[in-house]
Amino acid sequence: MTKAMVLGATGHIGAHVVRALLGRGHEVRAAYRSEKYLSVLEGLPVERVKVNLDRPEELREALRGCSWVFHAAGYYPSNRPSRAEAIRAGIESARRDLEEIRRAGPERVVFTSSAATFIESNSIYTAVKIAMEQEALRAAGAGLPVVIVNPSLCIGEYDAHAFSGRSVLAFAKYRLGWYTSTSFNVVYTGDVGVGHVRAAEAGRVGERYLLAGQNISLKEFGTLACRELGLPPPRWKIPLAAVYLAACGVELFAAVTGREPLFTREEARRIRVGYRLDGSKVVRELGTPQTPPAEAIRRAVEWFKQQGYLKESP
Ligand SMILES: NC(=O)c1ccc[n+]([C@@H]2O[C@H](COP(=O)([O-])OP(=O)(O)OC[C@H]3O[C@@H](n4cnc5c(N)ncnc54)[C@H](OP(=O)(O)O)[C@@H]3O)[C@@H](O)[C@H]2O)c1
Repeated sequence: MTKAMVLGATGHIGAHVVRALLGRGHEVRAAYRSEKYLSVLEGLPVERVKVNLDRPEELREALRGCSWVFHAAGYYPSNRPSRAEAIRAGIESARRDLEEIRRAGPERVVFTSSAATFIESNSIYTAVKIAMEQEALRAAGAGLPVVIVNPSLCIGEYDAHAFSGRSVLAFAKYRLGWYTSTSFNVVYTGDVGVGHVRAAEAGRVGERYLLAGQNISLKEFGTLACRELGLPPPRWKIPLAAVYLAACGVELFAAVTGREPLFTREEARRIRVGYRLDGSKVVRELGTPQTPPAEAIRRAVEWFKQQGYLKESP
């Protein structure tokens, strides 16, 4: 039995990592920042410890006695900072956390990056995740036993922040009756949790492991989500040219108001191209499960319903 620290244990991915560790008989110290989301750990036999990563002394104290560290509390640019600011914040936070972890001398570190680093894109999110991943690779080169995992779009239960779950909730909230011709990759978060633990057990130091599930079109995804939500499936196909025109409008508005655009032509181009990922290396090398998207969406919707996220929907 190994004692494992999970940073971001109240997060969507962290909550599944905690469960996967317990399922394999490990001891868990679960780090949370805000009490608001502690309910995702309710009833679990874990040690809870409050850690704000912006206060390195809290992390230092919390890491004592843990052989494994799972870092699923990485920075992501949620409040639309400028590109340069976001990259700087990502690099500084990754460097600071990894240095603190190095000092604690763990046997294994699993660093949660993103499948975005496998996809050609010019988005701020991708740029931040690439910069942070470089920090982790640099730390591995300098002797930290870190393995990197790269989840694609995670769908499942315990998504209290609704970071990726908003892609499902949007169908209920906005009654999205439309779709456009694009595709992406969806992975069940439970499989991602297991992937993290397998990466600690059997992953190679300095290696990146793509935790991807199934490639799916937006129409299929929307149809599955709407079925679970009790809504009619998306019916109207929006031409990609209209999506591109909308991005032009948003960028123009942003230029006039001096703000970061909420949606860019680059993102519109990405929608046109879509992306497909192949997660078979991890299935082969680490033996992770592959739950179908329909089941991932079913579990996510059931959880969102139980937690009251869908009160106003039918
Ligand atoms: N979800 C996805 O589809 C997906 C896919 C690929 C990669 N990722 C990456 O995986 C990581 C985790 O994603 P997630 O979906 O699990 O996010 P999430 O649900 O928003 O959870 C983030 C967790 O990190 C904690 N946290 C964030 N900043 C912190 C800080 N400064 N100090 C201490 N704790 C902090 C949060 O604490 P609070 O509860 O207090 O907020 C929460 O527990 C992110 O870096 C994300 O970019 C996510």
